Amino acid sequence: MNESILIVGSGAREHAIAAALARSPQQPTLLCFGSATNPGISALTTAYTTGNITDPEAVANFATTHAATLAIIGPEAPLATGVADALWTANIPVVGPTAQLARIETSKGYARDLLAGYRIPGNPTFRRFASIDGVDAFLARFPTRHVIKDDGLAGGKGVKVYGDHLHSLADSLQFCIQLADLRHEFVIEEKLEGEEFSLLSFCDGKTLRHMPAVQDHKRAYNNDEGPNTGGMGTYTDADHKLPFLATSDIAAAAAINERVAAALALECGAPYQGILYGGFMATSDGVRLIEYNARFGDPECLNLLTLLDTDFVAICRAIANQTLADLPINFRNEASVCKYIVPEGYPDRPRKGDPVVLPTHLPEDVALFLGAVDLRQNELISTGSRTVGLVATAPTIDEAEALCESVAAQIPGPFFHRTDIGTYSLIARRVEHMRIVRTA
Ligand code: AMP
Ligand code: GLY
Repeated sequence: MNESILIVGSGAREHAIAAALARSPQQPTLLCFGSATNPGISALTTAYTTGNITDPEAVANFATTHAATLAIIGPEAPLATGVADALWTANIPVVGPTAQLARIETSKGYARDLLAGYRIPGNPTFRRFASIDGVDAFLARFPTRHVIKDDGLAGGKGVKVYGDHLHSLADSLQFCIQLADLRHEFVIEEKLEGEEFSLLSFCDGKTLRHMPAVQDHKRAYNNDEGPNTGGMGTYTDADHKLPFLATSDIAAAAAINERVAAALALECGAPYQGILYGGFMATSDGVRLIEYNARFGDPECLNLLTLLDTDFVAICRAIANQTLADLPINFRNEASVCKYIVPEGYPDRPRKGDPVVLPTHLPEDVALFLGAVDLRQNELISTGSRTVGLVATAPTIDEAEALCESVAAQIPGPFFHRTDIGTYSLIARRVEHMRIVRTA
């Protein structure tokens, strides 16, 4: 059967998804329902429409009209509104969970309760709140070591960490009052100390296949300074581990993902079919869970799909048919470094509408993915968010970093990127931080 695969979403993550599907020997037909025109994706698709990607009916109609045989959903917003449910109802199998299963990402309290209820290790001390009743007493247990999270999706603005965004108990209480006034539920939890890493798994509801561990960089500027962003860049190592992690840390994270998938199947009475993304912290006390995402990370996806050796169409089909157990999956044993080129002022007051001039020649081991761009009168322009994602692969992180940086430095105009991601000195700092944490 010649697959006809719908991609929902139109950022750099979805460009990477389209590119991985397009290099399949099965030569699938690709379709895209996006929120903007991404020329990187449209060059690979036979039908492309822009619209409201969170409208289940609109997406299902487009998929049916174009005889999609399979769909993959990139971002979290359409998962939350039940786009996967509508596609399954239209008899189109989906890589990406139904709204009920996506609660592992869309409700932070649900994720914490699931771990607690099934005695899965990894939770910090936490409590869910629907009002400010009891907040004072709970905060008093760790007055300078807590994190407050809006329960629902808040586009990265819903989490405040004591010491970073909150500087006194009065600040913390004020944030809780603000959430309660909005009638938002929230979670207060103990602040964990350590190094963060992501472990993503392909999941068909029964079998999980883990991907190489990745580290993201959330802060906008070098040395982890400046405001939080969606992620400025990521790296992976050739052994699929990270320099500051022990093999046992990866095994612990993999076991948590496996137990969470099993718990979700029991809890929801339905299989989780999609990408399960665990965001973890390696601490003095072992691996702890920060949060779950129900999709590929952005930029994690750019590294991972660039390194993927196995036919991605076969993987998506196996997720849909629940046959992952029969499919060996391989990633190249190379390191990768990804850097995002973003507009000046990103993330708080980004410039928009500037021409994006791409390098005319890309080295063989560099992949380029277009993100927040649009085509206006045939000119590529930036739309105010992460604009171009570059991924370099090489035998070592150092070499991948140098290669990535050499291309990033060629992109002219009012844009910037982090020059430190993947450098020896930044990684040495992570390793040293982890050594101090583990010996504390
Ligand atoms: P989240 O949206 O849950 O990923 O939170 C955003 C960021 O807040 C994470 O990437 C962490 O850097 C930080 N964070 C969240 N929860 C905790 C925690 N319990 N302890 C320390 N940092 C946290
Ligand atoms: N890179 C973090 C995320 O996709 O949520």
